[in-house]
Amino acid sequence: MLASGRGSNLQALLDAQADGTLAPAEIVLALCNRPGAPALDRARAAGVEALCIDHQGFPDRRGFEDAMLAALAERGVEAVVLAGFMRILSGHFLQNFPARVINTHPSLLPAFPGLDAPAQALAHGVKVTGCTVHFVDAGVDTGPIIAQASVPVLDDDDAGSLHRRIQAQEHALLPEVTRTLATGALLCEGRRVRRRPPG
Ligand code: GRF
Repeated sequence: MLASGRGSNLQALLDAQADGTLAPAEIVLALCNRPGAPALDRARAAGVEALCIDHQGFPDRRGFEDAMLAALAERGVEAVVLAGFMRILSGHFLQNFPARVINTHPSLLPAFPGLDAPAQALAHGVKVTGCTVHFVDAGVDTGPIIAQASVPVLDDDDAGSLHRRIQAQEHALLPEVTRTLATGALLCEGRRVRRRPPG
């Protein structure tokens, strides 16, 4: 798990691990790029190793990514879940995990990529928004879409209230997709992602 901040999505994944619904996925490391981020405490409280690699300690993205790659390789990590990780990953990082890096974004992509997606949705005046779990490519929120959940935009919403309702959906969707990824049932053909039927 890679996180940068509050870590509520990480918490949802840790809770799913604790109640057995994340298996066969197993969280072996919570890696955070910001010292003191609450995400680190959440992992430790759940008995999961928490490691901070501060991107500011490296002269360039390559050095930061190589440090992360070394930490992941040491632990035998097979897949990476971005749970509120606020750095862009380059092709150099991603080529180590083909179709094995997923992210959650608080809009119905391809609408409103990038920062402050709930505020973007409000400013545009859409009536429905939501969240998207997608494979990560080297673009910003451009990778193949795995799953989406919709959320109505209410007349009295502000960016905070809308983001909170979107996050409630993310907290269910991201663990479910993480579990499915670990089963090997996600099939990515170009931009189309489908799920292999059980059995
Ligand atoms: C989430 O809304 C996620 O979609 C976006 O960043 C936010 C992180 O929230 N990528 P948290 O740190 O998991 O609470």
